[in-house]
Amino acid sequence: MRTQYMIRRAGLADLDRILEIERSSFGHEAYDRKLFAYYQERCGDLFLVSGRPGRVSGYMVTCVRGGRAELVSVAVDPACRQKGAASALLESTLRRLGRRGVSRLGLVVRVNNRPALAFYEKYGFRRRRLARGYYEDGGDGIAMSRAIPSPGN
Ligand SMILES: CC(C)(COP(=O)(O)OP(=O)(O)OC[C@H]1O[C@@H](n2cnc3c(N)ncnc32)[C@H](O)[C@@H]1OP(=O)(O)O)[C@@H](O)C(=O)NCCC(=O)NCCS
Repeated sequence: MRTQYMIRRAGLADLDRILEIERSSFGHEAYDRKLFAYYQERCGDLFLVSGRPGRVSGYMVTCVRGGRAELVSVAVDPACRQKGAASALLESTLRRLGRRGVSRLGLVVRVNNRPALAFYEKYGFRRRRLARGYYEDGGDGIAMSRAIPSPGN
């Protein structure tokens, strides 16, 4: 049976744990505390974590600008992967966006990030274009997007 996750808004008290997950997931490319604090301020209603306080297994941040939603980042503790945490975070994000009347969700993923590509494709994201040199080290990204069902559909 699939693990049930508590999905909730990230609080200030979750930040240390989020940074730990971030560093173990992205190494030297990890976002820093200042950037997470900015996202909490700017996109806090869609800055979500999986797990009770003190037991956070993953996070997902999405920002809405001018009616368009962008999935900014997602990471799950390496010890907790492939157990449905990212799926629960994404499903909650999609429901929240649907209730706000947002109709599309976009993102960019590294061309060679196979687990993430498989994850997004499982959830119906389609590859839209190659984003050449998108990352700071010159690496290429793939821009993907999917429609968001409106509530009740
Ligand atoms: C990508 C990531 C967030 C997925 O988190 P997760 O909690 O392990 O994902 P889930 O357990 O919800 O998996 C959902 C689906 O994603 C796909 N998937 C996840 N991990 C995968 C892997 N290692 N290999 C292949 N497919 C994978 C599968 O289709 C899976 O469905 P299934 O369980 O029915 O096979 C996680 O691997 C991660 O934190 N990676 C490092 C950070 C990162 O790259 N973030 C994305 C930046 S764009």
